[in-house]
Amino acid sequence: MDRTHDCNSLRKTDIGKQATLAGWVHVSRDHGGVIFIDLRDREGLTQVVFRPEENAEVAKEARSLGSEDVIEVSGRVAARVPGTENPKLATGDIEVIPNRLQILNRADALPFAIDAEIHNEDLRMTYRYYDLRRPQLSRNLRVRHRVAKATRDYLDSQGYVEVETPILSKSTPEGARDFLVPSRLTPGKFYALPQAPQQYKQLLMVAGVEKYFQIARCFRDEDLRADRQPEFTQIDIEASFVTPDDIFAVTEGMLAAIFKAARDTDIKTPFDRLTYHEAINRYGSDKPDRRFGVQLVDLSDDFRSSGFKVFRSALDSGGVVKAINAKGFSGITTRQIEELTETAKLFGAKGLAFIKVENGEWKSPIVKFFSSTEKAALQSKLKIEEGDLILFGADKWEIACEVLGRIRLRTAEIRDLHGKTAKGQSDPPIGRTRPMASSEWDFLWVTDFPLLQWSAEEHKWNAMHHPFTRPKQDDVPLFDAKKFGEIRAEAYDVVLNGVEIGGGSMRIHEPQLQEKMFEALGISPEDRQSLFGHLLRALRLGAPPHGGIALGLDRLVMLICGEDTIRDVMAFPKNNRGLDLMTQSPASVDPRQLRDLSIKLASDKKL
Ligand code: AMO
Ligand code: AMP
Repeated sequence: MDRTHDCNSLRKTDIGKQATLAGWVHVSRDHGGVIFIDLRDREGLTQVVFRPEENAEVAKEARSLGSEDVIEVSGRVAARVPGTENPKLATGDIEVIPNRLQILNRADALPFAIDAEIHNEDLRMTYRYYDLRRPQLSRNLRVRHRVAKATRDYLDSQGYVEVETPILSKSTPEGARDFLVPSRLTPGKFYALPQAPQQYKQLLMVAGVEKYFQIARCFRDEDLRADRQPEFTQIDIEASFVTPDDIFAVTEGMLAAIFKAARDTDIKTPFDRLTYHEAINRYGSDKPDRRFGVQLVDLSDDFRSSGFKVFRSALDSGGVVKAINAKGFSGITTRQIEELTETAKLFGAKGLAFIKVENGEWKSPIVKFFSSTEKAALQSKLKIEEGDLILFGADKWEIACEVLGRIRLRTAEIRDLHGKTAKGQSDPPIGRTRPMASSEWDFLWVTDFPLLQWSAEEHKWNAMHHPFTRPKQDDVPLFDAKKFGEIRAEAYDVVLNGVEIGGGSMRIHEPQLQEKMFEALGISPEDRQSLFGHLLRALRLGAPPHGGIALGLDRLVMLICGEDTIRDVMAFPKNNRGLDLMTQSPASVDPRQLRDLSIKLASDKKL
């Protein structure tokens, strides 16, 4: 093909030149025999005008063109008729007057219009190859490419080596269900797809690689949400002879390089740090969104001898009383209060006491129970003003924090305090990205997570991250004291605008400590050998101290692109039922394939 320009490159200075463009018919209009076509390729749009008086034959042929036909045109670059320039378009000053039109392919009836706002995501996913022509998605794919490239360049500059690890592997417990692959050669046995390259990257440290990274595909069979897919991509990092500070520094440096490359933004480093306990206590979340200031305020000491039964009994049974001030939200309707109360109950609250401040009055069913000292304490601690809405949680610390954390986010959502970029604004011209102020990016490290979490359902301790996470050295004696709930981990998450974009830890490199951890998790000595024998043996062969992190590439790119779901930054995602509607997968397979794999379906037996 003899394409000379892309559809985003011709300018005033090109007027009079010859050009050959190729692409898709974005829009075609017939103005009394003159055919106007917006020709689109991945870079942008150029107006092509077929005038019968210039070339009758070509103009006649152009009349047959429909949306998404694929064409190549050659012709003269001309100034647009004065007054018809389009300042919104980079090529808006010019048009191309073709003397040649080649129709490369025709498009059938289209499933939907490319520039329409399509709410039926299933329809989009069924025709994903067509959906991806939309400028916004095309841009997202390229932003993703730039992020991956900046990642590789930066980590390479720091001495990190990219190593691929197996996809057909063995189950790594990262907290989700495994996807299994039956083995034909070893009937009855299964590979597991990796939930993360966790064990492999640790084994690479034992192998002396020292600084590893991988843009790694991970697979987790879990309930799907806007920011969760069954297969997703991690920027996976591991290094030997490091402290958490080293991992923080390389992660911050990498994110700075990524934001520079993808958004031309200088982000502020180093990031703030909060311990897990502080994050929960102040924001009711281990991934706090700090772009709005509301914080949880503790009022326990002020209500210890309160006449309000609800608060008093929560405190008497070892709980807390906490509140948030949703500033200027007293206009909330009764229905909205009910909705918030339902949300609170969903997360374990027994109720959601509130005070609205209107016309100088505290409007609430509960203030009548408060003493003047209690009211004064509320006033000063919550800085109550006209128009405020105060919401209370009285419960066990964990529940009160979680509930108010959710309510904090919900009220912000209702009021749109999130400062989220509006859809239209976040849509820079194709091939260019809008620089954002660094204040729009709130990065945060959350540190000192608990190592273990009690599961009331399973009646056992589970690893909060994974079983290879290192406890803080000072807390190791707590294993023998069986105070598992108090052990803090040398683990950290990195949070951006209230989204957990990454997590990692220092690892256990001593076999004895790893055994202690397995014991706390209730993994029997036999299971330890069959599941993790390779790792335990490796730790006995001179494993260096090591640690690392993994960042969710999809989530990071989603935030960089201003999208609401990671599906919009993945070429071929699954829908929220885990289906690929385009290829109709998962699908039935030929019974012969099953026979080869020694697999019988339970559903067949019933027949
Ligand atoms: P973790 O399980 O926290 O850690 O995962 C790291 C990051 O991966 C992203 N992520 C996901 N993104 C999309 N869809 C999913 N289903 C999904 N699950 C996780 C998140 C998360 O922060 N091996 C450890 C890392 C380590 O310890 O080094 C791990 O996988 O952004
Ligand atoms: P009650 O005495 O149960 O009618 O509750 C009085 C008010 O306190 C109602 O607005 C309830 O929603 C609220 N409330 C009840 N229990 C709690 C709790 N544990 N935390 C916060 N508010 C509560």
